[in-house]
Amino acid sequence: MKVVVIGTGYVGLVQGTILSEFGHNVTCLDIDSDKIENLNKGIIPIYEKGLEEIVRKNLKLGRLNFSNDIIKYILEGDIIFLAVGTPPSEDGSADLKAIYSVAKQIGENIVSSKIIVTKSTVPVGTGDEVEKIIDEECKKRGLSLEVSVISNPEFLREGRAVEDCINPDRVIIGGENLRAMEIIKNLYAPLIEKDIPFVLTNRRTSEMIKYASNAFLAVKISFINEISLLAEKIGANTQQISKAMGLDKRIAPSFLECGAGYGGSCFPKDTKAIVEIAKSYDEELSIISSAISANEKQKQRMVEKIVKNVGKLKDKSFAVLGLSFKPETDDMREAPSLDIIKGIIDRGGKIKAFCPEGIRESKIRLKEYSEHITYCNDEIEATSDVDGVILVTEWSIFKNMDIFELRKRVKDNFYFDLRNVFTENSEIRKIFKYFPVGQK
Ligand code: UDX
Repeated sequence: MKVVVIGTGYVGLVQGTILSEFGHNVTCLDIDSDKIENLNKGIIPIYEKGLEEIVRKNLKLGRLNFSNDIIKYILEGDIIFLAVGTPPSEDGSADLKAIYSVAKQIGENIVSSKIIVTKSTVPVGTGDEVEKIIDEECKKRGLSLEVSVISNPEFLREGRAVEDCINPDRVIIGGENLRAMEIIKNLYAPLIEKDIPFVLTNRRTSEMIKYASNAFLAVKISFINEISLLAEKIGANTQQISKAMGLDKRIAPSFLECGAGYGGSCFPKDTKAIVEIAKSYDEELSIISSAISANEKQKQRMVEKIVKNVGKLKDKSFAVLGLSFKPETDDMREAPSLDIIKGIIDRGGKIKAFCPEGIRESKIRLKEYSEHITYCNDEIEATSDVDGVILVTEWSIFKNMDIFELRKRVKDNFYFDLRNVFTENSEIRKIFKYFPVGQK
């Protein structure tokens, strides 16, 4: 079966590459010719652990190629994955222009049966609309083709995308045509062999599973962040609360780490989108709405925490360690560092920033604040001659810094550890005025 993936953004590139790794013949398509040219040379536009090696290996084996000739491959493909972007519009709902325009292009061109798979996160009902658009375009040309639209959401985490695709917790396949669903299931044969659970369901349920899962995880993080605000005031320790809560099998330990708030491309986007979807059905998702506002508040609380302990920020300088929304990625979308840096500069402070991967994108996203930010070559330069250190993203190099040398470089000895990377026994708590999150 010939597999075609439309869209070589984060999701499409990883999906196409992994399917080629599973032994399929895959072509990934994109309208960006420079990107395609680079990809065919094995140069990938994102930083994702292990991905480049797999791309190069499968290019060499001839199982993977990249092209901008969309029509040619729409005609050749038996299975067409839709992995184009669904960015948030002004009101937070997902913008589906790209998905619908590709659906139209498919409907205008195909001459044989196809299985279409939506991989992008799309509102419930989008699969129905995609099917309708393709059907109508075929009918205009006097054709009646069997086109099955399947929902197969991704659950990959940035920085661990390859690992998550090769070893997922589950694979969801939603559709109305059992034969097409079985064909898609068999694309993942290596996962069936590993006994990874598959959930076969209808299309709308599958679309909803993706939103419900991401929203639940966002609620879990906002929940523990709110607990941490109270714990800090009453002198309780949130790490121990999380650990003890997580030992209850019904709660489970992951996504209970308090910190500077969640960021990234999925949680902020998907929580806002599902709230908007609910509104269009006259329903209010108050728990998810609260998680969104608690997350905004959490980022502001970090700035307030700095002000409360340092005093006036005017002419104070801070080293910001870590800019990307989490470690092992260059992704700056909705990164808490953006709000924290803006909050400090708005109060008169100055920033020296370092991040292993996030600087290029930060320069663009913080353009209007650039005269107050010095981007540094490493963590040593960033922490030299500053009043305090703010660890925003927990890259391991920051944890491994020589804290005694660090102490000599920092003028005033403030250390705000917004990701709780240092344990309770760490020396850093003795030599710095050390402020974690969720502990006194
Ligand atoms: C997430 C989901 O995990 C993935 O399944 C989905 O497909 C896309 O969204 P990702 O955005 O890559 O993946 O990052 P993830 O590792 O889940 O972290 C998201 C954010 O939550 C980060 O900003 C992280 O710092 C924060 N986080 C995570 C916490 O603040 N506390 C936690 O306990 C866990």
